[in-house]
Amino acid sequence: MSAPKALTVLGIETSCDETAAAIVRGHPDLGEPAAILSNVIAQQIEEHAPFGGVVPELAARAHISHLDAVIARALADAGLALKDLDAIAATAGPGLIGGVIVGLMTAKGLALGAGKQLIPVNHLEGHALTARLIGPCPFPYLLLLVSGGHSAFVVVEGVGRCRILGETIDDAVGESFDKTAKLLGLGFPGGPAVEELARSGNPRAYAFPRPLLDRDGFDLSLAGLKTAVRYAAGDVLLLTDEARANICASFQEAVAAILETRASAALEHFAAQVAPENGLRFVVAGGVASNSLLRARLQAVCNRKGANFIAPPAKLCTDNGAMIAWAGLERLARGAIPPDALSFAPRARWPLDEAA
Ligand code: KG4
Ligand code: ZN
Repeated sequence: MSAPKALTVLGIETSCDETAAAIVRGHPDLGEPAAILSNVIAQQIEEHAPFGGVVPELAARAHISHLDAVIARALADAGLALKDLDAIAATAGPGLIGGVIVGLMTAKGLALGAGKQLIPVNHLEGHALTARLIGPCPFPYLLLLVSGGHSAFVVVEGVGRCRILGETIDDAVGESFDKTAKLLGLGFPGGPAVEELARSGNPRAYAFPRPLLDRDGFDLSLAGLKTAVRYAAGDVLLLTDEARANICASFQEAVAAILETRASAALEHFAAQVAPENGLRFVVAGGVASNSLLRARLQAVCNRKGANFIAPPAKLCTDNGAMIAWAGLERLARGAIPPDALSFAPRARWPLDEAA
């Protein structure tokens, strides 16, 4: 059998506050990592910083202003024109609907104009498949998806085949980082700011709760932790720099402990389902997966359980176009594209395990 032909796909991501486009070339059956020919990301930090969080209307407007230039740059960096592409993939949800509309409609226009296949991509599937963009990672694998809007343990069995083992029953992990940062006046985006300040803090200064861990299962809960942080902070204006750093470190430690405990149980559960010759793979994805402490703690869990720990580089954990291009490419390679892709409607909500 001849080797499959490498496919070249443009990916467009606009579901939150990153306007992103990237071009990826490869094929899931080639047995070698895909090439990221370009990866352009325009962040909207200045737009949202005064509000301490993403303002959907401002985000949509910024996507409109930046997207054309970001796509042009992605093509130029790759040295390609639209005619050289096999397909154009775009996030079609879930996310802030204004931004999703901007990205998907732009992609539809380009696809129609250039006579290319349009591939609507589930943003969460983009995160879930990133591990396969960077190297070999055969199905099935256990995924911890931790982003600003979602937090879940997922068994990824194939493209379009994800099974949720457990998920947050209240706040997403990234959201809890963002809220902690906002409360402490650390600015936006919150995750990296909390991680930075935590470096100089004492993780044992505050005994923050680990909600839900007294119960079986793989669900997560972060809301109680947020409340505890608020009580600990008291009058924020009176907090010393040292106290702020200690709160960040203790908060991060609580999150790490929660995820470590749940990941350990989820891996045991998953290991009992897969044939030993399959190998045990644990993948972490989503913006929070760029946190160094969490990566180290999850790596330690995997070492104890004999699992292979796969964490994409930080730049591919936070939102980007390459993960959307790759998820589109995986679908193109399998012919798993809706027949009416050009009339696919943007979705604010779109669960990973659609069948469920
Ligand atoms: O995946 P992502 O870029 O966007 C969503 O799909 O939500 O994730 C963004 C989230 C934000 O909540 C951000 O604060 C968090 O990821 N994040 C981090 C770090 N970098 C980004 N959280 C903790 N530590 C970090 N270093
Ligand atoms: Zn995301």
